[in-house]
This record gives sequence, structure tokens and C-alpha cells, in this order.
Amino acid sequence: MNEKALIKEIVKTANSKDLDYSKLLELSSKLAQYDEDNVRFSVDAGVIDKLGRELVGRKETAVSELVKNSYDADAKKVDLIFIESDLEGGTLEITDDGSGMSRKELIDGFMKISSTDKVHNPTSPKYKRERAGRKGIGRFAVQRLGKRLTIISQKESSNVAIKVEIDWNKYHGDQDLLTISNKIEEVSKKQESGTTLLIHELRDKWTKSSIERIYRYVSGLIQPYPISKERKELEKERNVKTLDPGFKATLIKKEDKKLIPIADEQSMIYDYAVAVFEGMVDSNGNGLISIVSKRFEIDEIIELGRDRDNPKKPFSHLKNISFKAYYFIYKPEYIPSQQLRKIVNLAQHSGGIRLYRNGFRVLPYGEFGDDWLELDESVKKRSILPQHSNTNFLDL
Ligand SMILES: Nc1ncnc2c1ncn2[C@@H]1O[C@H](COP(=O)(O)OP(=O)(O)O)[C@@H](O)[C@H]1O
Ligand SMILES: [Mg+2]
Repeated sequence: MNEKALIKEIVKTANSKDLDYSKLLELSSKLAQYDEDNVRFSVDAGVIDKLGRELVGRKETAVSELVKNSYDADAKKVDLIFIESDLEGGTLEITDDGSGMSRKELIDGFMKISSTDKVHNPTSPKYKRERAGRKGIGRFAVQRLGKRLTIISQKESSNVAIKVEIDWNKYHGDQDLLTISNKIEEVSKKQESGTTLLIHELRDKWTKSSIERIYRYVSGLIQPYPISKERKELEKERNVKTLDPGFKATLIKKEDKKLIPIADEQSMIYDYAVAVFEGMVDSNGNGLISIVSKRFEIDEIIELGRDRDNPKKPFSHLKNISFKAYYFIYKPEYIPSQQLRKIVNLAQHSGGIRLYRNGFRVLPYGEFGDDWLELDESVKKRSILPQHSNTNFLDL
């Protein structure tokens, strides 16, 4: 086809009743070769596979990029279910309750290679999280993991969800990336907001230990603080949404329709605590503490009051409180070395005793480096602690 014929064809295609977008785009890009004064880059479809393989090395790194995307989208939780994945060809289902994507956000973000608005917006809109994955790798990670992808995403503000299906087999070399199309449709919402990725025909098999490895890779993002019921209600009532409620990842295997939990904060963190302390002071000021340690065979309940020698004497100011504390001993006898480093890191960044009032965090108690009860001897010696006026509020 010469230039004139090509232009004629473009006009004809553009005016036809059932507009064939792919054909129109292909013809237009062909037209570029007749531009004698300019040349342009075009992109071969094989680039997707190349980038997938070169940017994302290990399969575990690939999955952790997707968990980072959920965190970046202000999700409170992400569930990963590995379905029939003992052999290659299984399915990985990743569902988060984050902000989700609109059709436009999907086109301008996920479907635009090399774009990431996270460089311009390094913190997330809702909980002001420092965004974890902003290298534009997530979309290649899904290609690295499985042969087909289904994305279902919905936003709070919309009453429908979008569903996109991508068959990576279509992205082979010797054709223009621009001309490969992927079906998008509206479907009914599955949840208020969030994104589900279904990665079909997994390229690898997933054992229990490789799934656990993912958890360790992302454990830096996980803030396993249970939030109180009152707090949820208060947030609703006052419409406060900026306090980060934390982020949890749960990794599950599904075999023969049976769900087998592999890794969550219980199995990867709390189960390694040598003891758990749970306590409360009731409305009359009477306190109780339970201490449970399977390891040391302790299961005790102790009364607690204002006077150490006479615990029946109730607290006069301290009322209606409760707490739960996990006690770790950082030694390989108690925590396997693989987990040990992660737990120490997690405790260093997110540990400490935090204070909640009516379900809301009271700052700066328990912030990074804020050992307000002076429990950490090594920190006390360095005396870098911010001063609190009412450290003695515990009424003891
Ligand atoms: N779980 C998700 N929830 C909402 N948006 C997502 C999610 N995963 C990916 N996205 C969107 O797709 C874009 C591309 O993701 P990715 O390739 O990982 O690049 P990056 O995270 O560096 O922006 C993100 O910027 C985001 O807009
Ligand atoms: Mg990402």
C-alpha cells in the first residue's frame, strides 16, 4: 500500500460502523514510515517477556511486588491463595481491600509501561504510607508468574467493578505492542473497594517453604496490631480515615478444595513468642494479668492492684484498660534463625508499648525509638528518649 492508499484505508476504517480499534492503530503506525522528516521508536511485544524475566528474578520476589502494590494502595489486608499449586499450572489468587483502580487509572497506570505515579506521589493518599514498590515492576511480576491474568478491581466511589483479561501468550515477538488488545468489561462488585489478581497457569510450583519465604520478604510492611472495635466505630462516626490501621498478609494453600494456612502473623510472628501476657483493669480498678507460656509450661492468672504487696487494693485512677503483650527472647533456641532476623527488625521498627485511648493511638507513646517505660536498658544508657511529663500515669 502506498501512502495515499493507506490514508484512504485509515479513513475508511475510522468511519466504519463497527470500529476496529486495533486495525486503525496498526494502520496509523504504518503511516509513520512515510514521514520523511521524522523517525519514531516503536515497541516490539516481546519486550513484556524480556522485562518480566530480567526485572523480576525469583518467583518469591515477584509475588512480594504484588503484596507491595496492595500495601501502596492503602489496603488493610491482602490474602494470597495458591490453588492446586504443588505442580506447575496452578492458580494464584491475590485479593486486597485497597483503593482499587478505575478504568482510567488502569489505563494510565497499570497498562502504561514504565509509568508510575508513585515517583511523584511517594506517600499513599489515605494512610500516608511510604510507598514500597515504585519501580514499575508489579505488572511484569504477574507475567513472570503465570501465563494468563485476570484483574478485577473496584473503587468505593463506583457501583461497578472492571474486569480485564490478559493472555500473555499473545505477547510474542515480531509484532507491535500497540496492536495487542485485552478484553475489559464491567462486572458486578465483589467488595466495597479493592483489587483481585487471578494469575492462571502458574509457571512454577509452589511449596510450603517458598510460600513462607514470600512472607519473610514482605514482613517489613506488616504491622500486626489488632485494632479495637471502639476505634472502628469512632472512625466511622467521625469519618476519620487517616490513621493507618496496619497491614496484614495471609498466605494460604488450597488443595482438593481444602484451605491450608501457610503463613500469617500468628504462625510467623506470634507463635514464636515465649510468653503472652494479657491483662485488664475493670471499672472498679481491679486488675488481672494472665501469663501463658507453652514453652515454660506456665499458665497463671495474677491479681493486680495499686499496692504490690496487697493486690486486692484497686487502682484509684486506672480503670477500664486492657493490654496484650508478646514476649520474645532473641535467641536461636527460641526462634529459628530464618525468622529471628525478621522478628528483631519488626520489633525494632514497630515494637514498643503503644497507648490507645478509645481505640485511638496516643502519640508519641511507642513511636520508633520512644521507650517511654524505659524498658530497654541499652537505649536508656544512650538517653536519647524524648521526655514525657506523665510517665507515672500508671498509678502504681
Ligand atoms: N493492588 C493494587 N491496587 C490498586 N492499584 C494497583 C494495584 N496493583 C497495581 N496497581 C496500579 O498499577 C500500577 C502499576 O503497578 P506496578 O507495575 O507495580 O508499578 P508501581 O507499583 O511502581 O507503580 C500502580 O502504580 C497502581 O496504580
Ligand atoms: Mg509496584
